[in-house]
Amino acid sequence: MPDASGSPPIKDVAAALQTARWLSPIHILLTFRAPTIATHAVPGQFVHLRVTPVGTSPLLRRPFSIAGTNLADGTVRLLVRTIGRGTAMLGELLLGAELPALGPLGRGFPDVRPDREVVLVAGGVGVAPLLFYATAREHARKVALYGAETQLALVLADELAETCDRLLPATDDGTLGHHGFVTDLLPTALDDLRDPVVLACGPRPMMAKTAEVCRRRAVECHVSFEAWLGCGVGACLGCVIPAAGEPDRYVRVCRDGPVFDAEEIGWEALR
Ligand SMILES: Cc1cc2nc3c(=O)[nH]c(=O)nc-3n(C[C@H](O)[C@H](O)[C@H](O)COP(=O)(O)OP(=O)(O)OC[C@H]3O[C@@H](n4cnc5c(N)ncnc54)[C@H](O)[C@@H]3O)c2cc1C
Ligand code: FES
Repeated sequence: MPDASGSPPIKDVAAALQTARWLSPIHILLTFRAPTIATHAVPGQFVHLRVTPVGTSPLLRRPFSIAGTNLADGTVRLLVRTIGRGTAMLGELLLGAELPALGPLGRGFPDVRPDREVVLVAGGVGVAPLLFYATAREHARKVALYGAETQLALVLADELAETCDRLLPATDDGTLGHHGFVTDLLPTALDDLRDPVVLACGPRPMMAKTAEVCRRRAVECHVSFEAWLGCGVGACLGCVIPAAGEPDRYVRVCRDGPVFDAEEIGWEALR
């Protein structure tokens, strides 16, 4: 039964791997059948996944933003960048493998009125929740700014372009689009829009810069954070980041976020 907030109770479900597609030498797009998660997920929420169907190692689950859902077949998509042991194990799973999964977890992106214009600022695999957002939500105008190290790493850029009115890429090495940081593109993008809302997900320096640009222009901004997670459900305090306002006040990425109003974050303390 859903609780008073309309969310389903948090319980383990079996997520069965349906497809695995390598998008680059280090990025995999995984589709899991998990109808409860697909039904209740909103953009910005994540799943907390065991990375192996057998044994207890590694013990800790790994969190991944939901990159999209398909209600017709009850599937969720996850975009995984392989950077360590757990993500490498996900890349070796056999189709049909069933992983214990908690989700959908956390606070997703807010409801933004459809008549407003949005700018999506994505860095690396931060594109995952923003692609879900762009697919699921209608807006007067959707402009996407998407940056990565190199052209090959701009995975799913074609899908993002299809769901947005405009996509401006940026690469660190200049192989596609703007040669430099994706946040360099933000001021000009904002100049073209009327009362926009900015939604961002990516490395912390990228989000800090995005928040700074928005603050200077009094533009509403929401950021989706990554952090080390333990329990993933708000109990262990392993994921806290500094909150704005009083010193020594913290928010939990897994439960109070991962999406926060940029004004809620203690950016100075985080630095
Ligand atoms: C809410 C949330 C959503 C996320 N969404 C995605 C997603 O959509 N796609 C994706 O690929 N990843 C995502 N991540 C990050 C992902 O969870 C980690 O990359 C993953 O847990 C690493 O597991 P591993 O066992 O491969 O790495 P480990 O072996 O545990 O670590 C390998 C290296 O990666 C670094 N690392 C591990 N986890 C993190 C982290 N959370 N932040 C920064 N550095 C880290 C470590 O410092 C280490 O150097 C998300 C994290 C959070 C909290
Ligand atoms: S990971 Fe345990 S409280 Fe957030």
